[in-house]
Formats: sequence, structure tokens, C-alpha cells
Amino acid sequence: MHRVHVVQGDITALEVDAIVNAANERMLGGGGVDGAIHRAAGPALLEACRAVPEVRPGVRCPTGESRITPAGRLPARYVIHTVGPVWQGGRQGEAELLASCYRTSLELARRHGLRSIAFPAISCGVYGYPPERAAAVAHRAIAEFLAGDDTLERVLLVAFDAGMHAVLRAAVPAEGDE
Ligand code: APR
Repeated sequence: MHRVHVVQGDITALEVDAIVNAANERMLGGGGVDGAIHRAAGPALLEACRAVPEVRPGVRCPTGESRITPAGRLPARYVIHTVGPVWQGGRQGEAELLASCYRTSLELARRHGLRSIAFPAISCGVYGYPPERAAAVAHRAIAEFLAGDDTLERVLLVAFDAGMHAVLRAAVPAEGDE
């Protein structure tokens, strides 16, 4: 059974149990997919984010960690907010922090008994992570998690544009039980 699928489109339209938001540590919205998700979800999402406690001033979700909230008006049931690393050349632990985004998001989904989850290309926009490297990190982290999990049925990697779609397809083998 292949559980990992690469798709192209707008993540806010997906009817999955959870969509993952590429957020920032303040978790109060932003541009890119963060902005699109908040616009589609409506003000209830921002209220839910404000309710997430700060772990230190101005930080609700440290880089590499994830937080789950209801999804407001989105077709998805939950939004899992995760904060990817800003690319700084690859020698500041970026790969491990990005892998942690995928791992902690999947762990939250499992803890909530979710069956399907959709990821955008975390850190590949404003945060400048090279797409090919990010796709390899994402695939490895997801495959490692799924090797020890049988609750998740569908993991979608969502590309917003054709370029990222090609990169993700190249990184995720079509066959194999993942
Ligand atoms: N659906 C799916 N993917 C999308 C959508 C969408 N509606 N909109 C944008 N994307 C894609 C971008 O094309 C990019 O490949 O999401 C990927 C992540 O890009 P960003 O949204 O810029 O996220 P990131 O690079 O992780 O930067 C996070 O940007 O928006 C702010 O508040 C956010 O400070 C945080 C930072």
C-alpha cells in the first residue's frame, strides 16, 4: 500500500484530517501558505493560535516543533502548525530541524488518531530552503516515521507550483510501502 502521494494544488482546499501550516514561531499568521491558510480558515484560526501558550516571549512554536489547532472554515479538521528552519547555508542544523517538523507533525497526527495529513513544502519559500534538499529530508523523515506506524493511511506532499511538483515527484518513489 503506498501511503505517500505527491500532489499539486492549493493545500487549503484539501479534505484531509489535517493540513500542515508552514508557520513562524509567533504563530499569528504571515504570508505564503500561512497567509493562505489563515485567509481560508477565517478568524477562528487566529483565535485558536492566540490560545496556544507562549513557551517564551513571542514564541508559541519553536523551530522544529509543531502545534495542533482546529481548522475554522477549512475542509480539513485540524491545522498542524510547524516552524521550519530558515536556510543559512546548511551548516546550522537545518536538515535536522526540517526533519523534526515532519516528525513532530506526524506524531501529533498519530496522537490525535488522524488518518490523513497534507504537507506543504516547508521552508521552501520565504525561508529559502533549497527544494531538492528539502524534498529529500521530507521523504526520509516521513518514510522513517511510517516504518513504525500503521495508523496513518495517507500522507500528501503538496506542491503549489509545477517546479516543486517535479522536485517532490523525483524525491518520492512511486512504488514501495511508505
Ligand atoms: N498551498 C500549498 N502550498 C503553498 C500555498 C498553498 N496555498 N501557498 C504557498 N505554498 C508553498 C510555497 O510555494 C512554498 O513552496 O508553500 C511553500 C512554503 O513557502 P512559505 O509559505 O513561504 O513558507 P516558508 O518558506 O516555510 O516560510 C515561512 O513565511 O508566510 C511566512 O508566516 C510564515 O514566517 C513564516 C514564513
